[in-house]
Amino acid sequence: MSKYGGYEDQEFVADFYDAEYANLPHQNIEFFIDYSRKSGGRTLELGCGTGRILIPTALVGCEITGLDVSPYMLKKCREKITKLPREVRKNAYLIQGDMTDFSTGEQYSLITIPFRPFQHLMTVAEQKACLKCAHKHLTKQGKLVFDVYHPFLPRLIDSTYLMEMEVEPPFNLPDGRIIRRTNRTAAFHRAQQYNDIELIYYIKYPDGKEERLIHAFPMRYFYRYELENLLSLCGFKILEFFGDFDKSPFSDDSPEMIFVNEKIG
Ligand SMILES: C[S@@+](CC[C@H](N)C(=O)[O-])C[C@H]1O[C@@H](n2cnc3c(N)ncnc32)[C@H](O)[C@@H]1O
Repeated sequence: MSKYGGYEDQEFVADFYDAEYANLPHQNIEFFIDYSRKSGGRTLELGCGTGRILIPTALVGCEITGLDVSPYMLKKCREKITKLPREVRKNAYLIQGDMTDFSTGEQYSLITIPFRPFQHLMTVAEQKACLKCAHKHLTKQGKLVFDVYHPFLPRLIDSTYLMEMEVEPPFNLPDGRIIRRTNRTAAFHRAQQYNDIELIYYIKYPDGKEERLIHAFPMRYFYRYELENLLSLCGFKILEFFGDFDKSPFSDDSPEMIFVNEKIG
C-alpha cells in the first residue's frame, strides 16, 4: 500500500499534476494566500507538491517554505522557483520531509495543509504526529489551516463508484501528449474509514502510441467531530470552520471541511 498517496514512487503523477489541476477553480489558492497575507509572518505549507499554492503565495510577497515527501513533486516545484524573479525567489524555500516527523529549526505564524494531504495520513498515530509537529513549529497563537473533503455518503457505499468515471475534460501536456483521466474507487474500507482510489490515465502520444497508467492510493476520510477532538487533543482551538473555500458555513451538502485553528498551550 502506497504510504504517501503514491506521489513519492511514481514520477508520472508529478509530470501530469499541473496540467491536470490547471482548470480547477482557483478559489482555494486565493483562500490560502489570504491567510498567509494576514499572518504577518512566515508560512509553512505541508504537502506543498509542485507549488500550485506556494508559487502564487511567494509572488504576492509572502515568505513561504514548502515541505513535501515526494522528490518528483519537489523537483517540479524547484524548476518553477528557479524561473521566478530574484526578489520572489527569496520568498520560497523547499524541504523534503515527512509531515508526521519533521524539524525545520524555524517557527511560523501560519502552517497550511492545502488540498487534502492530511487525508494521506492513514492512522490516528500519524495524524496526531503531524498535528503535534505543526504545533511545535508554530509561533505563539500561530494558526494551522487545512482542508479535507466532507464525506459524500454514496461514495462510501454505492457500488456504482467501483466503475471508472470520466468527470473532467481531457488535458494536454506541453510535449504534445493528450491525457484522458478516469477515476474509480477500487475498494471501500468503512470500518477503517478509507477508500482505495485509482486515478487512471489514458495517454495518447503525438506519434499515436497509447499508454494506460494508474495512480493508486488509499484515502482516509474524516468526520467533523473526530477532527474537532483530534485538534483539541493536539493543542489547537478551532477559530473558524467552513464548508467551502468561499467561507460558507459548514452544512449537510458542503463539499469541504476547512479548519482554521489557533495554537493554544
Ligand atoms: C494533492 S497533493 C497537494 C499538493 C499541494 N498542496 C496543492 O495544493 O496542489 C498532496 C501532496 O501531499 C504530499 N504528501 C503526502 N503524504 C505526505 C507526507 N506524509 N509528508 C509530506 N508530504 C506528503 C504528496 O507528496 C503530494 O505532493
